[in-house]
Amino acid sequence: MRVCSGWRRFLLCLPLIFFLPHIFSVLELHKNSTVNDLHKSHNKKFDHLVLGPAAGEGLHDRLQCQGTKALNKTHLSTSSGNFSFGESVAFVTFYAAYDSSVDRLVNGRLKDLVTVGNISYSKVERSMAILNVFVNFVQMTMPQSNIIILTDPASKLPLHRNRVSIYPIQGEYSRDKLMLQRIRSYITFLEARLEEHSQSQGHINHYIFTDSDVSVVDDLGQIFYNYPNIHLALTFRNNKEQPLNSGFIAVRGTPDGMLRAKVFLQEVLKVYGSKYMKASRMLGDQLALAWVVRSHPHFDAKRFARPQAFVEDISGASVLFLPCAIYNWTPPEGAGQFHGMPLDVKVVHFKGSRKRLMLESWNFLDSSSNISDMLCLILKSGRTKYDF
Ligand SMILES: *[C@@H]1O[C@H](CO)[C@@H](O)[C@H](O)[C@H]1NC(C)=O
Ligand SMILES: *[C@@H]1O[C@H](CO)[C@@H](O)[C@H](O)[C@H]1NC(C)=O
Ligand SMILES: *[C@@H]1O[C@H](CO)[C@@H](O)[C@H](O)[C@H]1NC(C)=O
Ligand SMILES: *[C@@H]1O[C@H](CO)[C@@H](O)[C@H](O)[C@H]1NC(C)=O
Ligand SMILES: *[C@@H]1O[C@H](CO)[C@@H](O)[C@H](O)[C@H]1NC(C)=O
Repeated sequence: MRVCSGWRRFLLCLPLIFFLPHIFSVLELHKNSTVNDLHKSHNKKFDHLVLGPAAGEGLHDRLQCQGTKALNKTHLSTSSGNFSFGESVAFVTFYAAYDSSVDRLVNGRLKDLVTVGNISYSKVERSMAILNVFVNFVQMTMPQSNIIILTDPASKLPLHRNRVSIYPIQGEYSRDKLMLQRIRSYITFLEARLEEHSQSQGHINHYIFTDSDVSVVDDLGQIFYNYPNIHLALTFRNNKEQPLNSGFIAVRGTPDGMLRAKVFLQEVLKVYGSKYMKASRMLGDQLALAWVVRSHPHFDAKRFARPQAFVEDISGASVLFLPCAIYNWTPPEGAGQFHGMPLDVKVVHFKGSRKRLMLESWNFLDSSSNISDMLCLILKSGRTKYDF
């Protein structure tokens, strides 16, 4: 059990690593043949979607599904009407490209190809596909938003999309230092924006730093609108050891917001370097984040138990804590920690072996044009481990 939960944690943490050897997961038993098959072969990773039961069945505030048909409408909000013209939201994601040498040739053909829909992807192509689908979702739900990709100057990203820009940052991009480099890159980025901001007046660009294996399914501008006094926002869940997920950090684009977020992240970086270097490959940043928050004298960790947003001052920054269930929803793992999908879910996070599901759900949406139905597809198939 210990080994299992350790592996599970490993799996939660590093969206950039698509292939993890021999992952064992604990699946709940269901009286359902599909899921029983799944249980029998729990080492197996599937190369096609496997639908199981939808978590949260019968709960009135959770999405109810019939097959992949949604019985409820999920809310779609728009914040654009609320934003004054001088404000916008940009997404920032950290991306470390694989060296193309990982795509091995065997007898002149690429090995480890994975097919989604009618397209085959090599290892390198898979991570590009995730990035492209990330962009697709943002451009669908928040078409006014720009997307900024922080990356290694040495990598040449073959990504040419409107409103997407590449921002190279010098650093250490070895696989075991990626999470460390990610925080450093966030800090470097904020420093650069602070400098620019001091020269340009007026326009305010808020930043949401996310993993690239997330789908934004609702407008997120309302975070900044509804909480006008916060400097940054983090997502939390009811988990003793890792209550905070580092895959979503929102920063108010005022000089004050950016400065305090930068100082906050610098503290996280310091704690990471001094306490969690052994964990650097995977979850050091999340452990450091939790450490900084929890070590604050007035912080009451009991607040993580209830999925309700709250604001707390941490190291001079006003931090909004948002429930993962809505802002960082992960397909149920093991015991199904979120008990279904809230009707106002805004961000879906395809951690671990669920990247295939991210691509499949985009393809599904592309043909059905129905977000609620797509959410049913995700809810029902998210328990399965996929081949990427
Ligand atoms: C398995 O579950 C699915 C979804 O809940 C359902 O449609 C299907 O009929 C079930 N299969 C069996 C054999 O019970
Ligand atoms: C999506 O499908 C559901 C039922 O599956 C329906 O109630 C809803 O109106 C549809 N939404 C759109 C935007 O078509
Ligand atoms: C969602 O749909 C189910 C089934 O139609 C219904 O019982 C439930 O009340 C709906 N929930 C909301 C909040 O409308
Ligand atoms: C402004 O935001 C509030 C709260 O999110 C929402 O109820 C309202 O409809 C929004 N107004 C416009 C014009 O979008
Ligand atoms: C792949 O499928 C899509 C939609 O199903 C279709 O539009 C496209 O032409 C297909 N591509 C190829 C190469 O068959």
